[in-house]
Amino acid sequence: MGVTQEQIYAGLDLDLSWSERDLPERVRTKHVHRLHPYLGKYIPQLVEELLRRHVPARGEVLDPFAGSGTTLVQALESGLDSAGVDIAAFNCLLMRVKTAEHNPFVLERELRDALGRFERGEGKAARANAYVSAWFAPQSRADLLRFRSLANDYEHADVLRVILARAARSARLTSHFDLDFPREPQTEPYWCHKHRRECRPVEHADHFIRRYTLDTLTRLKEFARVRSRRTAQVLHGDARELDLPGPFDAVVTSPPYPGLIDYHEQHRYAYELLSLDDERERELGAAARGTSRAALTAYTEGIAGVLGACADALRPRSRFVIVVNDRRELYPQILSQAGLVLEQRYQRHVNRRTGRRAGEYFEDVLVARRA
Ligand SMILES: C[S@@+](CC[C@H](N)C(=O)[O-])C[C@H]1O[C@@H](n2cnc3c(N)ncnc32)[C@H](O)[C@@H]1O
Repeated sequence: MGVTQEQIYAGLDLDLSWSERDLPERVRTKHVHRLHPYLGKYIPQLVEELLRRHVPARGEVLDPFAGSGTTLVQALESGLDSAGVDIAAFNCLLMRVKTAEHNPFVLERELRDALGRFERGEGKAARANAYVSAWFAPQSRADLLRFRSLANDYEHADVLRVILARAARSARLTSHFDLDFPREPQTEPYWCHKHRRECRPVEHADHFIRRYTLDTLTRLKEFARVRSRRTAQVLHGDARELDLPGPFDAVVTSPPYPGLIDYHEQHRYAYELLSLDDERERELGAAARGTSRAALTAYTEGIAGVLGACADALRPRSRFVIVVNDRRELYPQILSQAGLVLEQRYQRHVNRRTGRRAGEYFEDVLVARRA
């Protein structure tokens, strides 16, 4: 290759290792990045810097594991075209809502109209399915189902669906400290580790619907002020098999990691309330599949398959920028199976994350190209 390991491994990149003080949560979750919770995203400031370093001006970037759309949103902010693929239907809905160019006047009129009608008691609560009956108190599910019925009347129905999902997430019968992956509905008062007192499960959802409708409006308007008019395409499907558009100037992505997160399951309430297609069996690295040798082999082949497919959609000499916490050291094999060579690798100190998975660790940024 003509490049030594020392040159490839540039070590800790202090420019990407922000402290909590440099980058408080409010800044990491600016505008649409906090439109809906999503476990497993990377921070927008990291993406912004990676786009600056590795994507030519006015170029087009591809994210084959686009998740909640951080790459696409930042590409729009940086004046780049982009496309993002995800297997999870809810993630694609969320990305479309974040990246669409909404007419601000129609958006505001519709959201306020829907909220007004909801608060006047309009809408019809259809029969709840088994999941909705088990995971929501009677008043919460009546609120959510009524709001759902109103959403269909509007041009911005998808925005209202994301608001519905966010309200549903907050209104589930869970303890306050177990919002990410609750196992059983919490139907009785409980000792709350987060608030250090007895808390009660949520009994209604109307206050969440109000709060999130207004917050979503503010966030979409904030993003509209910094968004360029470039395009962001959202492609729903398995990135190993989709016909990718292109040609692209770079891939910037953070792939799923084996055994950590179930990306469909974390938004189960949304799938149940919005009748979205569940394709979890195609999810790479799903936690439910564990970390057995067979699971790791399937993961390695799957990610290599995706990167290989992306390579065909890239212009010659374009870069793959892959953010990963590769503690199992799977990526040397994955890159080689995908026909890629590593050019550079830098490490970033991840100072703090929110939620129960808080802690400190290092993340790698791998920069590769076709061999
Ligand atoms: C680490 S997350 C990406 C998060 C993203 N960088 C963000 O900031 O929101 C990985 C994503 O890969 C998606 N995924 C898993 N298997 C996939 C497949 N076969 N094709 C496309 N996407 C897949 C998951 O649904 C998940 O959203």
